[in-house]
Amino acid sequence: MKTKLSELLGIDIPIFAFSHCRDVVAEVTRAGGMGVLGVAYKTAAQLETELQWIDARVGGKPYGVDVLLPTRYEKLADRRMTAEDLPQDQVRFMRRVLDEAGIPRLPEADGAILVQEFLDCINMTREQTEAVLEVVLRHPIRAVVSALGSPPQETVQRLHDMGIKVGALAGKPEHALRHKQAGVDFIVAQGMEAGGHTGKVTSMVLWPQVIDAVAPLPVLAAGGIGRGRQMAAALALGAEGVWCGSIWLGTQESELTPALKRRFFSASSEDTVQSRLRSGKPARVLRSKLSDAWERPDAPPFAPLPYQTMLMTEPHLRVARGKLDEWQYYPVGQLVGDINAQTSCRQVVHDMMNEFVEATDRLFRMMHDS
Ligand SMILES: Cc1cc2nc3c(=O)[nH]c(=O)nc-3n(C[C@H](O)[C@H](O)[C@H](O)COP(=O)(O)O)c2cc1C
Repeated sequence: MKTKLSELLGIDIPIFAFSHCRDVVAEVTRAGGMGVLGVAYKTAAQLETELQWIDARVGGKPYGVDVLLPTRYEKLADRRMTAEDLPQDQVRFMRRVLDEAGIPRLPEADGAILVQEFLDCINMTREQTEAVLEVVLRHPIRAVVSALGSPPQETVQRLHDMGIKVGALAGKPEHALRHKQAGVDFIVAQGMEAGGHTGKVTSMVLWPQVIDAVAPLPVLAAGGIGRGRQMAAALALGAEGVWCGSIWLGTQESELTPALKRRFFSASSEDTVQSRLRSGKPARVLRSKLSDAWERPDAPPFAPLPYQTMLMTEPHLRVARGKLDEWQYYPVGQLVGDINAQTSCRQVVHDMMNEFVEATDRLFRMMHDS
């Protein structure tokens, strides 16, 4: 399929797979789309291992990474964070909620080490982002996508000098225009039904707004796409490809535990909530006892980025160690209502393309037969 973006990036099919899981990235890339690895929770050393693993499997096909490239670091942390930096009201609240529910605390001896190990994976300082970028530049990466705000112009230039294309996510036309000014090559317009951090506008309304605002810059449509009819709608609205996150969570390659997968399969589209519990910024997640706890009248305010992410480390580890699935929150979009059984990345790509062809055929016949 030829679209501006499949040509720009040298891929066969304009289906992009955002995932934190290297298996998904490799498999979608091998199937002719483009896998994009989320790097937000990986140290530079871990990333190096993951990219070597992907390189060994994709046979030179183009793939990408999604990195935190904040324009202004002063908004984030200026040094390595430790447990002492965390806002205590919120830490105490979470401890109380989990204690009341009888969820065991982390073992005294290694609890602090576990938390610190986790904190070190959250790339929030300029140094950490720089180390991650150095790893990226050592691999045959075709595209770098900025997850958080417009990338600094000098970073865009540096990536362009290496022949790497740059994209950025936007939930509003204003954000997309800022990204365009920063010199990016494409925009990912993400509607509010998407999993992860989202704005307030639905995909159907947002995509054409962004496409018109940044034209002729190519735009990928994101938020609520998991099948071919949705892809046909996105391309009909002017997108040059689709960027999907949630649909891969139900595949055999995904990072989810079998128990969490079962919860996803039985969830409806109404079982997600936009909550600030993950990072302090609104993100769509599967509703859980933990997301409900933050809605209690005695809950303190959410801490700002990056403190909320950091203070959620301990509860996250407590819940994971206790295998308490109904407490686990995980980013996922409203599409979760359509994810009902395990499939594979290759099958998703195949089904999406088949349904896309059927949908466009149907439209063509409507015109032709009349
Ligand atoms: C589990 C999960 C984690 C995500 N984490 C990130 C992230 O770290 N960076 C990012 O740019 N987008 C992230 N997103 C958003 C995706 O990039 C994508 O825009 C979104 O999933 C598209 O909507 P969909 O979920 O309806 O497919 C995440 C999405 C999911 C489902």
